[in-house]
Amino acid sequence: MLKAVLFDLDGVITDTAKFHFLAWRDLGAELGITVDEAFNEELKGVSRIDSLERILAHGGVADKYSSAEKEAFCTKKNDHYLELIQEMTPADILPGILPLLKELREAGLKTIVTSASKNAPGILALLQVKDYFDGIVDPASVAAGKPAPDIFLAGAELAGAKPAECIGVEDAASGVDAIKAANITAVAIGDATVLGHADRVLADTSALSLAVLRDTWEQAI
Ligand code: BG6
Ligand code: MG
Repeated sequence: MLKAVLFDLDGVITDTAKFHFLAWRDLGAELGITVDEAFNEELKGVSRIDSLERILAHGGVADKYSSAEKEAFCTKKNDHYLELIQEMTPADILPGILPLLKELREAGLKTIVTSASKNAPGILALLQVKDYFDGIVDPASVAAGKPAPDIFLAGAELAGAKPAECIGVEDAASGVDAIKAANITAVAIGDATVLGHADRVLADTSALSLAVLRDTWEQAI
């Protein structure tokens, strides 16, 4: 039986993906590195420090900066990101998400946030949806970030469910990799050419419903 839904946050519950992109793009520009939308796809789902490492490698300066400098770059990017998201309200919840969360509550399924973002609790508070979730996995508590399965395995455990009793929802290729590596059924939101390794790809969140999740899970299991 399907018991739990494990939600990515950025790009699934709300469109913060665009703000992460803008903040990295501007930091990249300061460092003389071009972060365009195509390269940004490779940063989705990836932790803050790993994103910076990828950007530096992309710019051919992987070994140029000390740990302290990298830490400062991450803080700068996050400060900018926090400025960009501070006006967020419940109106910024992506289409279909609130009805889905209500449906899941009524059906008694567990709901867990499995985001790489350390800002997830703050964003859920801005969106006023914290009460719809049974738990949030702290990304700092898992050994390896996406595409490793750790955060989704921790999410299943938090839900009190086996991986086979869960479904994960993601917008990033690295996130779908992580779900599949955890032996969990994956629903992806976005471009099928990037996310084709998911069990089902939906163009956007408005197509999400409990019926779609159940159908995907039943066909995959
Ligand atoms: C993921 C985003 O959800 O969280 C990434 O897709 C981001 O773009 C990562 O780098 C970490 O987020 P934060 O908020 O801790 O910097
Ligand atoms: Mg995401």
